Amino acid sequence: MSRLKSAVEPEDITGKQYHVGLKPGDIPKFVLLPGDPERVPRIAKYWEERREISKHREYVTYVGRYKGVPIASTSTGIGGPATAIAIEELLRVGATTFIRVGTTGALQDFIRLGDIIISTAAVRYDGTSKIYVDVEYPAVASYEVVMALIEAAESLGVPYHVGITASSDSFYIGQGRPGYKGYLPSRWRKVEKRLAELNVLNFEMEAATLFTLANIYGVRAGAACAAIANRATNEFIPDIGVEDAIRVANEAVRVLNEWDQVKKRRGSKYLSLKMIVNELGKG
Ligand code: URA
Repeated sequence: MSRLKSAVEPEDITGKQYHVGLKPGDIPKFVLLPGDPERVPRIAKYWEERREISKHREYVTYVGRYKGVPIASTSTGIGGPATAIAIEELLRVGATTFIRVGTTGALQDFIRLGDIIISTAAVRYDGTSKIYVDVEYPAVASYEVVMALIEAAESLGVPYHVGITASSDSFYIGQGRPGYKGYLPSRWRKVEKRLAELNVLNFEMEAATLFTLANIYGVRAGAACAAIANRATNEFIPDIGVEDAIRVANEAVRVLNEWDQVKKRRGSKYLSLKMIVNELGKG
């Protein structure tokens, strides 16, 4: 990358963004966001067309088509700071709907390893969203994305749960796991139990930042994460359910695209169940 416009606008004269390496027009409006760069080609293998268009640090982007719908996937890396950079730059190049495809630690004993958790909102135990806005501001998912993820999980027969997620900037202490030599400040002892009592379903590290920024900027976001760990039953199987989360997120893009056309035909800003039933003949 050559000289950028300025220190406060880190993009080149074509609008190519410093971190994600994308310029306006490179991506469509739907973007799937795994944390792990290696998950991007795994997501794209379900598309009928796919092409890697950028690779810089933790940010890998593929574009293509899923069931005819233009789609992209960009990895965010782990945690709020890296995710906020991805969101900021993806917005500047045309993304308007984000779906996180992640892994998570379940907090409830009724959630089995491999089940998918669809987040309706996120407890803001991250640091990045607090830089953007006061803690009173809610980190909520888009109801359209939540509904589309549920529709996708139902149609694919994937076991899922819907509810509140807790997002932390810390995998160990912030999720109540002892640090090196057992270090665990009292604030975080048994945090997983306290959250479970409050009906929080799971711990992960990106949804709160994603949802907060999406609401501030007036775009849609949601999250579907595979429960690879369960803190209530103390089990952990890396990668279990990830393929299901990927399939659900891809299919949710097809569903959202269909619903966006319904809204367009109706000239409606908002989607209702009645509109879906009337226009598409299904609930
Ligand atoms: N990701 C997390 O943040 N926590 C877990 O327990 C598992 C995955």
